[in-house]
Amino acid sequence: MIDSQICTLSSLESPELLAWSEVLRPLWDPDGTDGKPFVMHRKMWEWLFICAVLSERGVLAPGRRGLGFGVGQEPLVAVFANLGVEIVATDLPPDLAIERGWTTSGREYSDSIDALNNVGLCPDDAFQRLVTFRPVDMVAIPAELRGFDFNWSSCAFEHLGSLEAGLKFLVEQMRCIRPGGFAVHTTEYNVSSNEETVNRGGTVLYRRRDVEAVILHLRREGYQVQCDFTLGDTPSDRHVDVAPFSDVHLRTRLGEFATTSLGLVIHKPDDWQPQRPDRAAGGQVSRMRRLAGALRPGRAGGPPTSPGRSATSSPDAEPL
Ligand SMILES: C[S@@+](CC[C@H](N)C(=O)[O-])C[C@H]1O[C@@H](n2cnc3c(N)ncnc32)[C@H](O)[C@@H]1O
Repeated sequence: MIDSQICTLSSLESPELLAWSEVLRPLWDPDGTDGKPFVMHRKMWEWLFICAVLSERGVLAPGRRGLGFGVGQEPLVAVFANLGVEIVATDLPPDLAIERGWTTSGREYSDSIDALNNVGLCPDDAFQRLVTFRPVDMVAIPAELRGFDFNWSSCAFEHLGSLEAGLKFLVEQMRCIRPGGFAVHTTEYNVSSNEETVNRGGTVLYRRRDVEAVILHLRREGYQVQCDFTLGDTPSDRHVDVAPFSDVHLRTRLGEFATTSLGLVIHKPDDWQPQRPDRAAGGQVSRMRRLAGALRPGRAGGPPTSPGRSATSSPDAEPL
């Protein structure tokens, strides 16, 4: 079973991800003339990883319900609808998206289902029947979004303003999932350092220790999470691609840090129970405080670090 892991060439070359690469071929090889089995890009890895994880867990089937956060114009909504899954696709409300620059490129944001089946990965009638769009800010998830078989996001929770905001999202979004369901979320991972990082701004960069802190927190809440932090070690894995970009793009640079992608898989067990109300109020608050404390530079068990940083360049400008 594929579990939480870091983007590597060997993962991209696995039979599971290769099979999904064929499903997405109309997106990256519209004429069907490209002989390659996949595109060597961390963002493609994120999409294939999400598909493979959900498929293995049996939730990509008719009658299932999925909730996508910060979907932008990604192809996964159409892929899942094509398998009969009912999808609620969400992204920032338009005023916030404009204010934060997400509409500028014309290919990173959507405020309706119109751009979500651009290459026809799902027949139009099924797409219209199964997919709804709803503006949702990931830092304030509406209480009525509940009972989903799965949630996902790709390249989104690192854009919530701070490390802490993204990790709070990971905890909060689990409320949307029914017992027995799954969440899979991908993000930016700091390959250069487990101490220094970009901890606030438009794009933040998670270190291993941040991911370990949130995994611990999620486990205390009764969720199941495993993570393999093994980095790839082939020349393609080690290559840090910067503009002008090449076709080997598993790592790139954000500020002074080399970055790749991380995929997190979180399971809410069948017998999961919420904390008892009297403990939940105090317990939840103090656990969130502990998580916030763990994220402060120099407070996560590692050596002291410099104050938080922000970066101006965003790897999301990279072409796919
Ligand atoms: C880099 S794009 C990724 C889009 C898409 N998931 C993909 O993989 O192509 C980041 C997405 O996150 C969305 N986003 C950023 N901040 C958000 C927030 N606070 N709530 C919801 N979505 C947000 C943006 O509007 C954008 O669609």
